[in-house]
Amino acid sequence: MNGNPSGGGDDARRAGRYGEAVFEPEKTGEDERIDLGALAYDDVTLNRLTKLGAGPGWDCLDVGAGTGTVSRLLLGRAGVKSVLAVDRDVRFLAAHPVPGLTTLEADITAPDFAPGQFHLVHARFVLMHLRSWQQMISKLCSLVAPGGVLVLGDAVDLTTSTAPTTAYTRVMRAMWQGLEETIGTDVSWVPGYPQLLRMAGLTSVAAEIHVPPLLPGSPISRFWAETWDRSREAIVATGLADDATVGTAIRELDSPDFAALSPGMLTAWGTKS
Ligand SMILES: C[S@@+](CC[C@H](N)C(=O)[O-])C[C@H]1O[C@@H](n2cnc3c(N)ncnc32)[C@H](O)[C@@H]1O
Repeated sequence: MNGNPSGGGDDARRAGRYGEAVFEPEKTGEDERIDLGALAYDDVTLNRLTKLGAGPGWDCLDVGAGTGTVSRLLLGRAGVKSVLAVDRDVRFLAAHPVPGLTTLEADITAPDFAPGQFHLVHARFVLMHLRSWQQMISKLCSLVAPGGVLVLGDAVDLTTSTAPTTAYTRVMRAMWQGLEETIGTDVSWVPGYPQLLRMAGLTSVAAEIHVPPLLPGSPISRFWAETWDRSREAIVATGLADDATVGTAIRELDSPDFAALSPGMLTAWGTKS
């Protein structure tokens, strides 16, 4: 039985169906929510990708590309040859075509997902939402050409579980649990990425973490306010935070007295021999 009012249910949870139970792309403003998160992390991501060699001549695969900010930066700023941007829903990618960018609507967990071999395979904030994240690490590795790199970024929450209880920490904890219960999101394994990439056979494995501060009005604060609003039913269904607490936490993010750290992004990479 599924006591979950957000409509996710056991099937969505097993499949990890991001975009069906929460974060539906057809709901107005979902592209803006993704862009707010991207604004907080794009510079860090592009910096890492260019340091790893992404540049002229490279063919790149960006899976779960969202609105395509990383795909377009790879083409426009890093000057790569091509980017194949894949998502289960390509409406946001199709809205911003640029030369060198090809979009593919596909479920990356489908057994027949095999779009070729690439110098760079990149996925950011995607595997954490998939129940099959472990198989997906192997699958994405198999799409890297010899000498190419796999770069995976996902969320790490370094502060919420240990910080004193406030509306913010209560809602953040409830959000992780609510997303786990509706679509199967799990960030608990993310700090293990370096070992997971070694076990997948990659070499020169390394990782870094970027943790943005939550400053009032900043893109990352607005991202969390939007994210909580859109996952409100899943949050409240956990019983860990009620609707009023979600409202308080959203207002808290905008208060000049509020000071906390956002969950961050762990980026891990390795080279295919
Ligand atoms: C949190 S967004 C991240 C978007 C982008 N990578 C970024 O960092 O801005 C997750 C994206 O992964 C896509 N996605 C989730 N599950 C997927 C699947 N099984 N196959 C393809 N795309 C998927 C979603 O549609 C969404 O666009």
